[in-house]
Amino acid sequence: MRRPFIAGNWKMHKTVAEAVDLAVALKAALADVSTMDLAVCPTATALEAVSHVLARTNIGVGAQNMYWEDSGAYTGEISPLMAKELAAYVIIGHSERRQYFGETDTTVNLKLKAALRHNLTPIVCIGESLAQNEAGETVAFVGAQIRGAFAGIAQDDAQKVVLAYEPIWAIGTGRTAMPEDADRTIREAIRNVLCDLYDQATAETIRVQYGGSVKPSNMADFIVMPEIDGALVGGASLKVEDFAGIVKNAAAALKV
Ligand code: PGA
Repeated sequence: MRRPFIAGNWKMHKTVAEAVDLAVALKAALADVSTMDLAVCPTATALEAVSHVLARTNIGVGAQNMYWEDSGAYTGEISPLMAKELAAYVIIGHSERRQYFGETDTTVNLKLKAALRHNLTPIVCIGESLAQNEAGETVAFVGAQIRGAFAGIAQDDAQKVVLAYEPIWAIGTGRTAMPEDADRTIREAIRNVLCDLYDQATAETIRVQYGGSVKPSNMADFIVMPEIDGALVGGASLKVEDFAGIVKNAAAALKV
């Protein structure tokens, strides 16, 4: 059984003070949740303060990005060693990073290897554009993203990876994938490819979140799908009542 995992991606929102306020509120609102993994991913500037608030709680902390080298002349970047001081998770290859900051399957692979080398739990994002979806290219495209991300990664490391399937056209748009379509894509483009790369057991061990306009009112529809193990939540993770509502509705739907 894969343990459900819901993470909030705060993107480029919240000053340190605002991030601390949200973390304090989430800590109280979600204190009784023990049947799933929870995490929030603040901006780099708020990681330290949020990690203090959430230390020894049931809510983990993740970075939104990092570079793959341990140190060096890379102005503006943070390294896995630095992320590791403040976070247990790191989001890798979010579609916004691919779209605006030139990330590719190759850089995602380098970052994934760096995260695994430093015992950070990676949340690797994959997903197709609207044009690819409408052209019927989703399975081929997402499958290729999976092959690129996992190139050269050993089976025992692969099992530690969390994936987030996020159709780009559903991110921040209020438009969600049909849960059945997301479920089928995860099976055909993700688990089948992982089975091919590794084996059935590995493919069934790796957790896959759905992402893209998840909110309290639609979380249950996704979480009950057999292949969907949680959510990566953007906009609705910025308000305590929305993120807590998502978590509680997921728990209720799973009867856990
Ligand atoms: P959204 O973002 O929930 O605002 O659509 C999801 C994400 O980008 O991870």
